[in-house]
Parts: sequence; C-alpha cells; structure tokens
Amino acid sequence: MRTSRRSDVDPFIVMDVMEAARAAESAGRHIIHMEVGQPGTGAPQAAIRALERAMSDGPLGYTVALGLPALRARIARLYGDWYNIDLNPDRVIVTSGASGGFILAFNALFDSGDRIGIGAPGYPSYRQILTGLGLTPVDLQTAAANRYQPVPDDFADQDLQGLLVASPANPTGTMLDRATMAHLVGAAKEAGASFISDEIYHGIEYEAKAISALNVSDDVYVINSFSKYFSMTGWRAGWMVVPEDHIRVVERLAQNMFICPPHASQVAALAAMDATGELEANLDVYRTNRALMLEGLPKAGFTRIAPPDGAFYVYADVSELTNDSRAFAAQILDVAGVAVTPGLDFDPVRGHQTLRFSYARKTEDIVEGLSRLKDFMDQR
Ligand SMILES: Cc1ncc(COP(=O)(O)O)c(C=O)c1O
Repeated sequence: MRTSRRSDVDPFIVMDVMEAARAAESAGRHIIHMEVGQPGTGAPQAAIRALERAMSDGPLGYTVALGLPALRARIARLYGDWYNIDLNPDRVIVTSGASGGFILAFNALFDSGDRIGIGAPGYPSYRQILTGLGLTPVDLQTAAANRYQPVPDDFADQDLQGLLVASPANPTGTMLDRATMAHLVGAAKEAGASFISDEIYHGIEYEAKAISALNVSDDVYVINSFSKYFSMTGWRAGWMVVPEDHIRVVERLAQNMFICPPHASQVAALAAMDATGELEANLDVYRTNRALMLEGLPKAGFTRIAPPDGAFYVYADVSELTNDSRAFAAQILDVAGVAVTPGLDFDPVRGHQTLRFSYARKTEDIVEGLSRLKDFMDQR
C-alpha cells in the first residue's frame, strides 16, 4: 500500500540518541542523560494525590472538548499571576500537550500549502508537523547577533501566512524582551501572517520573567504545556489561548480530532498548578545546574556557548571541533558515556557544527556528566 508524500517527515534525532543511550544501558553501561528535554522529576505530589482521589470517585470519562472548566479557569488565573493579564477563561483550550496544540492551531489557521516561518535553530517537530499537515515550513536562518531569534528582516520577502516563535527557545534558551516581541508581532500582522507563540518554557527563567505574546496583542495564538515547568511530560497535558472569535473554530476541530484531552491528566494538572513549593524547588535545581554548566562546559573545552535566559539547555557552537555533529555526539556517547543531541535536529543547515546539552536532570548527574566531558575532551 502506498504512503502519502506528506508523511515523509524526518525522524526526531534526539529520539534516536535516546535509543542509542538505552541500548548502551541495556549492555550494562552507565549513561548520563544530557540529551532529553525533560525534567528528571515527576508530577508534583499534589497532582498524584488529586488523581488518586478522582480515580476512586468516578469513571473519568470524556470531558467537554475544550477541557475541564475548572482547569480553564485556573489557567486563566495564571495569566493574572504571571503576566498581569485579565484573561477570559473561555479563550483557554486544554490540549494534549503543546504538541496537540500545534495540530489544532495549524489546522485552525492554515490551508494546504500555506507558508509558516520558523526560526532555525528551533524545535524540530515544528517542521515535521507542518509538513505532515501539507503546510510549508520556511526555515528562517536566525543570527547569533539576534540571539538566534527571528527578526522582521528575516521574513520580509517570504510571503508567510504564519510565524511561529518560541521564547525561551529550544535549543538556545534565549528570550524575546517586550519590545522585540511587540516588534515581531506587529511585523507579522503587517505581513498578513498569523502569529503563534510557543511559551512552553515559561516559568523556567533565570534573570528576567518571560513576556507572553498576550502582553502585546490579543490577536495571537499562545501555546503552553504542563510538560516543563509543571514537570508532567508523559501526562500529555497542555493548553492554548486563542482570540475570542477563534474559540468555536478550535472547539469544532478539537471535538472531532481528540474528543477531549485526557481526563486523568486534566485532574492532575489542575492540582499541579498549586504545587508552587515543589515546582520552585525544581527550578532551584535547574538554576544550580545552569551555573555548573556555564562553568564546566568551557573548562571541558566547549567555549562557544551563550548563557541561556530560560529553559534547560545550552547550545554550543562546536565548529572548531567537528563538522559532523551526529558522529561527534555518537563518539561522546560511546567514549564518555554522555548522551547529547546533535544540532542537526534543530538546524538542518548549520546544525552539523552544534550540540545541545540539556541540564534538566538531577545535579549529581550534571556534575558527573561535566567531569566525563572534560576527560573526553582532554583525551582527544
Ligand atoms: C519548544 C518546544 N515546544 C513544544 C514541545 C512539545 O511539548 P509537549 O510535551 O507539551 O507536547 C517541546 C518539547 O520538548 C519543545 O521543546
């Protein structure tokens, strides 16, 4: 049987690295995981307890398509707490992770063949999901001088119908400040491109608080998730905020595509939102790990790095060390027992000379990983 042309998407290379690390572990090796972008911690205890109660209370059947009203109201309240925005809860749509949000957003906003600008380096699945939906991802090669974020000049002549940005970004951890965000949102509007802001790393910031696209406009889609700050990757829970006149459009899509987001995860997510103590303790670990990375990576010989504003990644330019980041990452795994992600996942053009190091795991793993990386580099 034939398969479609649009299903011909690239693999997610980090998943291949994870598989190689798993194979090494099952062969008896001890591997330090600096490849995966997921917290080493689980869901907050309060989330588990709330779910235990809900499971003994009732059947956890379908919820309404846009999500539990109490969760939508609680998420709306978060916008007051984090950004000083008074958000109508009706605009909040609960999704199956940010990934489910992309599917809904891209279907709601774009027609086949539409061109959507994404920054390179950037989260790899943007490109593949767009392709899978018959849309055209347009890589915008961002500049180090612009902290690897797109600027209006990058898409002025690109005839885009959409622009997708992430702040803090994966893999660089860089953020857009208010003026830059406002400038980008304005330029996209002028160009007739719908603006989508991936805010999945909000809450994981080290110096300044992240700005939401909603701080500068209501005419945007914002996508967020319980995977990162709330430490609930496998639960597949996230949310979107859409303009008021898009709620019904997205509702019709959500009803038909997903029926509803997982009920159990919604119950847990609602309780997780009040687990501030535990979540802030996770943040303290990332902060400690970040400081260790910024000190340890240059000492090991990875000198071309920039301090991330948020998220839990360091993106390193390794052009002085290799022209083949995939082979280099495989060698680091093989010799040092440290799994890292080759930049090719994030930037098909320049990523053969970059690596991404994740510091989302526990601090003792970061200490051990840095020591192994130093030994590896000393012996090269
Ligand atoms: C920038 C970015 N957006 C979206 C996602 C997908 O997240 P979720 O687990 O919520 O689907 C990730 C996952 O790493 C990411 O880094």
